[in-house]
Amino acid sequence: MIYQVENLTVRVNDNGGKPLVNNVSFSIGSGEIVALVGASGSGKTTTALAGLGLLADGLIVASGRVLFEGDDLLKIPPVQLRRFRGRRIAVVFQEPLYAFDPLFTIGAQIDEVLEVHFGAHAAERKDKALALLKRCGIEEAERVYRSYPHQLSGGLRQRAMIAQALAGEPKLIIADEPTSSIDVTLQAKVLELFQQLRKELNLSILLITHDLGLVRHLADRVVVLRQGEIVEQGRVGHVLTAPRHVYTQQLMAAGG
Ligand SMILES: Nc1ncnc2c1ncn2[C@@H]1O[C@H](COP(=O)(O)OP(=O)(O)OP(=O)(O)O)[C@@H](O)[C@H]1O
Ligand SMILES: [Mg+2]
Repeated sequence: MIYQVENLTVRVNDNGGKPLVNNVSFSIGSGEIVALVGASGSGKTTTALAGLGLLADGLIVASGRVLFEGDDLLKIPPVQLRRFRGRRIAVVFQEPLYAFDPLFTIGAQIDEVLEVHFGAHAAERKDKALALLKRCGIEEAERVYRSYPHQLSGGLRQRAMIAQALAGEPKLIIADEPTSSIDVTLQAKVLELFQQLRKELNLSILLITHDLGLVRHLADRVVVLRQGEIVEQGRVGHVLTAPRHVYTQQLMAAGG
């Protein structure tokens, strides 16, 4: 297992109330795609970000472990954890306009990741960046490289975001609603890309989504969250063909 969340509980600091994430455990194998599904507010993002030190102010991990290749991320000091992010675990957010800095070109931002992680010469890094953009299905890589985030369409920005995520050669990508801000045709392409990357690079992916159609197509296993607790988890074929929990059935009826 490359990633293991064990008995994770997240609370609002100084709040004796119900935890936002309660005793959650699941794991992701090498090259595996695991989907985290559940209604809005069920704790998907909180679960995914807890191990990366990216929880919002006021939220604390009350108990549990988040193991990446056996190391507990919750015990790693913030400076070191920053090195983990990007290099070994990359996060792809829902709206890449916010993930990119508006003041720098896409190229400069990918270059920054390459420089931090690999050093090397500027020209080599540029070749590497262009190759990454192409790998993510961007034909006009040179133009995208020179563009500012706002100059790109949503679909191109999303792909550039994935290219940036791949720049650190991560082993795990955490993708939080990676396709909900782009149109359906492009969604399909981004998903194909994920599948391809998994196959070629043996990437593991934690896919957070509302879209059960997507889960069915892409994921190996699925974890169903409801009000911060896991109601069921298992192979996609099992859970989505014969959901044991009425909540999963409701999620499916609501648009899966
Ligand atoms: N900073 C915070 N302080 C207090 N409560 C918070 C904070 N951030 C999130 N929450 C609460 O934690 C719960 C889980 O939120 P989270 O964002 O993880 O859900 P989600 O499943 O990702 O939802 P969505 O599908 O809408 O993205 C929600 O009830 C939310 O209101
Ligand atoms: Mg969320």
